[in-house]
Amino acid sequence: MTITSARFWNRMADRYARSPIADAASYQTRLQMTRAHLLPDMKVLEFGCGTGSTALLHAPLVDHITAIDISRRMIEIAQDKAARAGVKNVDFREATLDDLAGPDNGYDVVLGLNILHLLNDRGEAIERVHSLLKEDGLFISSTPCLGETMKFFKLIAPLGRVLGLLPVLRVFAIQELIDSISSAGFRIEEKWIPSGGKPRSLKAVFIVARKIS
Ligand SMILES: C[S@@+](CC[C@H](N)C(=O)[O-])C[C@H]1O[C@@H](n2cnc3c(N)ncnc32)[C@H](O)[C@@H]1O
Repeated sequence: MTITSARFWNRMADRYARSPIADAASYQTRLQMTRAHLLPDMKVLEFGCGTGSTALLHAPLVDHITAIDISRRMIEIAQDKAARAGVKNVDFREATLDDLAGPDNGYDVVLGLNILHLLNDRGEAIERVHSLLKEDGLFISSTPCLGETMKFFKLIAPLGRVLGLLPVLRVFAIQELIDSISSAGFRIEEKWIPSGGKPRSLKAVFIVARKIS
């Protein structure tokens, strides 16, 4: 399954890099909401970083960012962008959360942006995030919850995957996501959904959650 996902995202990477941000105003709001939590001495992990745009924007505000993605091509594009921008404190690596050797409790903040709905088991991933975070660390995520109004995706996603047209795609509602994050040992501190525009299910819910146990 992991190899299938990597192949899909490798194929998509160049097009993804060229695509404009779908909702620039919401993206800016999410950047600002994230920055409110970043400090110059922080160590940050971003998983599913894609072509690295967000990590490169946050880089000047923190000590170091480890940014990982399952797709080699996404990482190549991100490394190229970092080199051209002269950014030295982001380490882009082809990896999944499971590949990270540790140390546990090493990160102040973990970012998971537009990724939790693309994983086979989001609960397992959130538990791994929990173990990678320092005590009181923050998990900041942004996740399209297709289960709000697009439950039919549950039916077509497996077919799309077999045909190679869709990646792994999980359909769940906002409350299910909140339950997954809370039950892994986090307290939800902020939740934001952009108003207006697209149907609610296509908007990502932005969540800031603190490690509490
Ligand atoms: C929709 S893109 C989001 C990219 C970026 N976070 C953003 O918000 O623009 C999803 C990314 O997650 C990566 N991905 C998918 N499954 C993954 C996994 N198991 N571990 C790490 N990255 C993964 C894909 O290669 C892709 O770059």
